[in-house]
Amino acid sequence: MTNLVILTGAGISAESGISTFRDDGGLWAKHRIEDVATPEGFARDPELVVNFYNERRAQAASVAPNTAHKALANLEAQHQGDLLLVTQNVDDLHERGGNPHVLHMHGALNSALCASCDHRWPAPMRMLVADSCPNCSAPMARPDIVWFGEMPYQMDRIERALSKADIFVAIGTSGNVYPAAGFVEMASHYGAHTIELNLEPSAVVSQFDETRFGKASETVPQWVSEILNK
Ligand code: APR
Repeated sequence: MTNLVILTGAGISAESGISTFRDDGGLWAKHRIEDVATPEGFARDPELVVNFYNERRAQAASVAPNTAHKALANLEAQHQGDLLLVTQNVDDLHERGGNPHVLHMHGALNSALCASCDHRWPAPMRMLVADSCPNCSAPMARPDIVWFGEMPYQMDRIERALSKADIFVAIGTSGNVYPAAGFVEMASHYGAHTIELNLEPSAVVSQFDETRFGKASETVPQWVSEILNK
């Protein structure tokens, strides 16, 4: 039984029409990270931040999963052995593509969080700064997104899976942001075979045993059919 850990980034959603962060014209070319993706930015101007995620939530709802998402759903449905799908993405295209168990290490657009009592609930399409928590009633609702300087979610679970992985695959991520960019090193340390499926070499490409360059809509279905027909 082959245990798989798959890490995805913005590149897997690019062909669905969701812009990545660091490609030309990406999100960080249009918005300052410190304004929209840090706790300090939220404290300084909560309206700007809530609306930034309202726009991204609406955009994600307006696009569809692509063949790469669907290939990973097919893999999870058919694969014998453990499979953990970890995504840095906050869209729900993996779920809508058919993967029932997705670990959103950077949070999710469809989730809201109470900054006071840590309660989570399904986010409305448009969040308002004045939204109050349905659990403690504090007017402290925020997007359930892991901002820079905050700890990604479920790191213990991810590290346990990496320690048991036979294959680690990174798809559509530039390898610029840790701890996700460090997963390949951890997987290799535990003896996993590591594969990068990306449009171009990532910042950590040299740490992978195998790299395949191309669009996710081509490389992911190809890799999935190989792994299922082994
Ligand atoms: N197919 C495959 N890869 C693609 C495609 C595609 N069609 N289009 C773009 N890519 C690749 C790019 O070459 C790039 O390496 O996807 C990667 C996207 O990199 P980033 O924009 O940096 O996105 P990501 O790696 O997911 O960013 C990680 O940074 O800003 C934070 O929290 C944010 O989760 C995000 C994290």
